[in-house]
Parts: sequence; structure tokens; C-alpha cells
Amino acid sequence: MYRKIFTDMYIENGFSFKEAVSEVDFVLEVLFEYTYKEYMLGKTLENRQIEKLKKIFTERVTSHKPIQQITGIAYFYGRKFFVNENTLIPRPETEILVSEVLKIAKNYKTSEILDIGTGSGCIPVTLVLENNNIKSTAVDISAKALETARKNADLHNVAGNISFIESNLFEKITEKYNIIVSNPPYIPLKDKESLEIEVKDYDPAIALFAQDEAGTEFYEKIIKNSGGYLLNGGYLAFELGINQAEAVYDLLKRNNFSGIEITKDYNNTDRVIFGKINK
Ligand SMILES: C[S@@+](CC[C@H](N)C(=O)[O-])C[C@H]1O[C@@H](n2cnc3c(N)ncnc32)[C@H](O)[C@@H]1O
Repeated sequence: MYRKIFTDMYIENGFSFKEAVSEVDFVLEVLFEYTYKEYMLGKTLENRQIEKLKKIFTERVTSHKPIQQITGIAYFYGRKFFVNENTLIPRPETEILVSEVLKIAKNYKTSEILDIGTGSGCIPVTLVLENNNIKSTAVDISAKALETARKNADLHNVAGNISFIESNLFEKITEKYNIIVSNPPYIPLKDKESLEIEVKDYDPAIALFAQDEAGTEFYEKIIKNSGGYLLNGGYLAFELGINQAEAVYDLLKRNNFSGIEITKDYNNTDRVIFGKINK
């Protein structure tokens, strides 16, 4: 019954049925470890739990604040991550980037992977959890994002396998790596107004926007400087924004990368690109 009351709240406020059901189930699970199956078997909630849910869903439908920021939890690669106003909410598309990097890492007995713009730390934490021959360095310009990334490494007991460095791109980096990975800010600032409220008002602007017309400034800076931070035959792998594959492909080609491959996402959009440096 309560499940219907809360999904109705969403629908009355203009949300889709699909969104309503998935978010209500998400909150029930995250807060009370309560599954849909248990609901169907007639499990009930206490009054104080219902009151808490009412507060959460009211905030969600009136402010459009993402449910992950309200609960402080997001799922990535099937695992829980802490998120807040300082970290981008990890997206399913980024799981494709992680899967591609895990395939590349199989070329190495052990690998050192640098993640530029780590945010919640979802990329390095997942990499080291999925393959215990990986060690990672996580960089972000935001000290507050790094604080959350560290908490996520602690949550998953992998803090010993990840170093955290506050740095503007490569500025504070002194080592060389087998793989550099990045999901950089790639939305052109001019597109801000076309984004949904959940994104434009709540994801940190520093995580979203590139200042140039095409949104490719971070790819360019990272590609042009990566030579000094990649070991011989090392790889560079990126998540791509909409319509950026061709420009990033050209940048990689012109900067001595070969074997460039592009992977599409669930919507058939070019989403991940990687290449190998010739040196
Ligand atoms: C699109 S978010 C990606 C976050 C996370 N890696 C993920 O995939 O969910 C980009 C991240 O880059 C960071 N960032 C922005 N400019 C940066 C810079 N100049 N140097 C390092 N990190 C930067 C932001 O703080 C943000 O955490």
C-alpha cells in the first residue's frame, strides 16, 4: 500500500511511472534493506519509517534534488557509493568505461592506473575491487570530492590500493602509468540550460562543464600531456560526451596514439574511446 502512496506522489508531480517505481524501490532498499519481493510477501513498515520516507519523497518531488543526493547513496557496478553535493552521481555509462579498462588491464600482470577527475572515486574503487592486480592513483581538483572518494575506498576496504592526490590534471603527478582513465567534464557550458534540473542545479558544475564550444578542452589537455605520464605502450581511455567521438579520435591520432577503439552505450551512442601510445 505505502509503495503505491509514494509512487503516486511522484506521478502527481509529473514524474514517469518508471522513475517513480525505480526510485521508491531504491530508497526502500538503501534505507531499510527492503526488497520488492519482501513487499510482495506483505512485509510492513513502522510508522517512523513511513514518516521518514514521506520526508524524503516530498523533498524529491518538490525540489527535484536527485534521490541519490537525498539518501547520500548511489549504486555503481552493483556496489554502494557515498555521494553528496561535491561529487558527480556515478552514471551507468561510466560502467562501460570501467569494463573497457578492466579488459585492457588484462594485458598486464600488474597495472598502475591513473584516474583523472575521480569524483566519488567510483572508477578506481571498482577497478581495484574487480582486479586485485591493479593499483590506482585518483586525482581531483576538488578537495571535497577527494574526501568522499577516500570514504568510498574505506567503505570497500581498498584504501591501501589507491593513492589520492589533489591536483589540477597532471600538475602534481610525478609517476608514470600503464593506463590513464578519465571521465572528464565534457558538457559545453552553452548547453547548461537544456539540462534537467537534477543535473544542472545539483551535480557540481566543476564536474559537468567544459568552457569551450565543443566541450573537448579536457580531452585535449589530457591527451597532449599524457605522453609524459604513460609508460611505454600505455593506454589512455575516456568516457565521451555526445558527438565528441570524432574530435577525440583525431586528437588521439595526431598525438601518437594507435589501435584506437570506440565502444557504444545502451543508446547506441559512442561512449568510450581508448588508444595506445606509440613509444
Ligand atoms: C564528470 S566528473 C567524473 C567523476 C567520476 N570520475 C565519475 O565518473 O563519476 C569530472 C570530475 O573532474 C574533476 N575535475 C574538474 N576539473 C578538473 C581538473 N582541472 N583537474 C582534476 N580534476 C578536475 C571534477 O571535480 C569531477 O570530480
